Amino acid sequence: MKRILSGIQPSGRPHLGNYLGAMRQHIEMQKDYECYLFIADLHALTTVKDPAKMRQQTLDIALAYLALGLDPAKTVFFKQSDLSEHAELCWILDCLATMPFLERAHAWKDAQQKGKKEITVGLFNYPILQAADILLYQPDLVPVGQDQKQHIEMTRDLATTFNHSFGETFKIPEPQIKEEVAIVPGTDGQKMSKSYSNTIDIFAPEAELKKQVMGIITDSTALEDPKDPETCTVYKLYKLLATPAETKALAAKYKAGNFGYGDAKKILLAKILDHFSSARTRYNKLKEDESSIWKILDNGAIRAKKIAGTTLDEVKVRVGYRSSYNKMTAHFSVEHID
Ligand code: TRP
Repeated sequence: MKRILSGIQPSGRPHLGNYLGAMRQHIEMQKDYECYLFIADLHALTTVKDPAKMRQQTLDIALAYLALGLDPAKTVFFKQSDLSEHAELCWILDCLATMPFLERAHAWKDAQQKGKKEITVGLFNYPILQAADILLYQPDLVPVGQDQKQHIEMTRDLATTFNHSFGETFKIPEPQIKEEVAIVPGTDGQKMSKSYSNTIDIFAPEAELKKQVMGIITDSTALEDPKDPETCTVYKLYKLLATPAETKALAAKYKAGNFGYGDAKKILLAKILDHFSSARTRYNKLKEDESSIWKILDNGAIRAKKIAGTTLDEVKVRVGYRSSYNKMTAHFSVEHID
């Protein structure tokens, strides 16, 4: 069975764009792959400097995944900060990466172009930590959004450099990018994103969700006139959730005329409520039992450590920190310390 790994930033309660862009894919994959999924809370410290917010956003994203059907018995689900291996391997890779290599990263270039003065070393180093995240688990595939493509390329480069310098250690992972859902439009037609305040919040109370859907911006074509579905945000969102037959039926209504955008929005809202009905119920139930969520992540970390620890052990032998007969587990056994 092929192994996949992905990480997600704890950016709070996820919206429809997060779900369609990445979460759905992560959850579906647990059927056919050996899956590792973690909350990238080390990366999040580059932006989130408030402990209560860090904790809440981590909880929110974990809760959403579990509500949406992530099965912790199938997917090893954990948070990055619970494993010291990520930061340790990051350092080792730091010593192989050059400054110009990192200066090519889009996120760094954007920050520079925007004239940001206080760019932290953490932000600069972000891609190396991501490479460590990935390489520790020796995955075959890394499912990510289009915006992460460069990070995967950098990971492949670093793995190749390490393998050349110290011998074959890391599997070279392949990115898996689902092109057709790469951009989910928000209520104003731009890419759906918290920073544009144009999101549809799948776990919001029904009245709020309704307000968001009814607020989708459409053009001013008169009710009786035929409309072009392909340019309409309501239709584009519907298409992402509905079956091809349902989508075709909605397109026919647009083209026939005498069908207003208000009608289309009602159809979209019903679809969203139907699609997320059981997830919304599970969400509200799980929310009442916060400790069970932390426990799931703790268990995930224990399972993740088995493989991350093994890889780091191997790396330490390769680099010359340990000899092969003196691996970490033996070294730190109670007998040895006594
Ligand atoms: N940078 C990714 C994002 O913002 C999150 C991430 C961190 C990640 N480490 C990863 C994704 C490792 C895939 C694999 O979406």
